[in-house]
Amino acid sequence: MTNPANIQTPLLAWFAAHARDLPWRRTRDPYRILVSEIMLQQTQVERVVPKYHAFLEAFPTLDALADAPTAEVIRLWAGLGYNRRAVNLQRAARAVRDSCGGQFPRTAAGLQALPGIGPYTAGAVACFAFEQDVAFMDTNIRRVLRRALVGPDQIAPPPGDRALLDLGAALIPPGQGWAWNQAIMELGALICTAAAPACRRCPISGACRAHAAQRAEDEASILAMGDARELGAPPRPARRVAERREEPFKGSRRWHRGRIIDALRAHPALPLSRLGPLVKPDYSEADADWLRELVGGLARDGLAILEGDEARLP
Ligand code: ADE
Repeated sequence: MTNPANIQTPLLAWFAAHARDLPWRRTRDPYRILVSEIMLQQTQVERVVPKYHAFLEAFPTLDALADAPTAEVIRLWAGLGYNRRAVNLQRAARAVRDSCGGQFPRTAAGLQALPGIGPYTAGAVACFAFEQDVAFMDTNIRRVLRRALVGPDQIAPPPGDRALLDLGAALIPPGQGWAWNQAIMELGALICTAAAPACRRCPISGACRAHAAQRAEDEASILAMGDARELGAPPRPARRVAERREEPFKGSRRWHRGRIIDALRAHPALPLSRLGPLVKPDYSEADADWLRELVGGLARDGLAILEGDEARLP
């Protein structure tokens, strides 16, 4: 591997100069960090910022969130999608209140023992609230580490997360885990994006394996294009890169689950016969079993209550 300093020094300097001023970067309060990290898991920063402020205004403390009716938490989650995150966030808050005397565990392992907190969130809170030098993985970190340390996205087989986590952990500059993890995420969000990496503006392109491979390929194809042009071949089509899909596919199960929660947010309680047409315009009695099964699934996930024929938020 390249000398770690060839990546660490320029990336930390770039972050110090270019980091966005985001509200969760101005706090070390584990409750606030937890709220931000759960919101950021499936939702983009610009959409999260106003929701983060509104959520913390409604539930300014861990106790306020733990004590709130779950329906209120789900209502405040409107517009963020993936509503299960709201329920998981409140579960974690209640566990900290009830089992940890209101104090968050300070280590990733302790945090991960809480309900509703997976390895990513546990690592992010340990690092961003308690400034622990821990490695963790999300889509941005995975992409940056893969490209920088392994090679181009198309490389087969792609490295597993365990291997990448080990490589990533070895790169953390001791005592600077907070800035380091924020910097990798920021690079993934602003420069080393999935669709259009801006390698010319990248502070670590000089040490990046994917960049080196890309340059070698470009040089080879410039030579080949020269040959091909002589033979009258058409230019190569531009590469297509998959975009991240944020909204669930319209008509999918997840999409209908979202519509059901939207309808329940707007009504205190609804009989299934009134809920049906709100989530499916051509709803008929033939859809009743389908709807009951969907609401039953939401109830199992803690997002709804189904009593007889009536559905409501918990
Ligand atoms: N995405 C997830 N966590 C983030 C953070 N702390 N800053 C910016 N984007 C993020």
